[in-house]
Amino acid sequence: MRGRFITLEGGEGAGKSSNLEHIQRRLSAAGKQVVRTREPGGTALGETLRGLLLDRSQSVMSDDTELLLMFAARAQHLAELIRPALARGDWVLCDRFTDATYAYQGGGRGIDGGRIRLLEQWVQQDLRPDLTLLLDLPVEQGLQRAGERSDPDRFEQEQAGFFLRVRAAYRERARQEPERFRIIDASQPLPAVQAQIDHVLDAYLAGAN
Ligand code: TMP
Repeated sequence: MRGRFITLEGGEGAGKSSNLEHIQRRLSAAGKQVVRTREPGGTALGETLRGLLLDRSQSVMSDDTELLLMFAARAQHLAELIRPALARGDWVLCDRFTDATYAYQGGGRGIDGGRIRLLEQWVQQDLRPDLTLLLDLPVEQGLQRAGERSDPDRFEQEQAGFFLRVRAAYRERARQEPERFRIIDASQPLPAVQAQIDHVLDAYLAGAN
């Protein structure tokens, strides 16, 4: 029996952290064994790579290096944590996955989607998320929320144009894969966002039994 692989995506200031917590509680309440994790990261090696990727002092990192490090962390994550958990029948809840690579390295940095697809195929073979929730909100609103944070990381210090391309790439992926994606309007207050998430999860859980 294979568990389910659920990913949460969204731009800056979309409220991923509080909503991850909410999703985890909801799945656990439905009796699922939930493994919560994140990308880049999720393993000791992956967290070390995350440190490099987010470190603002790594200002000379080329776009290809960034892309390859994302997939290096992902390869380790899949081998060490995600695949074993799914094989046990656990539900894996992951804060970002390969859609983020299409959005940030593809949309944001401008790397050709075909190259990302090659790496996706190589590293993941046929493994894809079963369900992806995209927390979507206007870039300006997200940056306003995120702007309350001090000490921006290497991605957070990018300009609005970068985040506009990230959002557009996420929305385009959701449009291309409507079966897997659910778009959540994250511009609303938290309780309304969580009501949308509950609606999606209830329908998904009903179909997954
Ligand atoms: P976050 O977990 O706080 O959202 O930070 C992770 C950062 O890494 C975020 O700015 C998005 C970025 N990222 C990519 O650029 N590509 C990827 O494939 C992933 C998983 C994350």
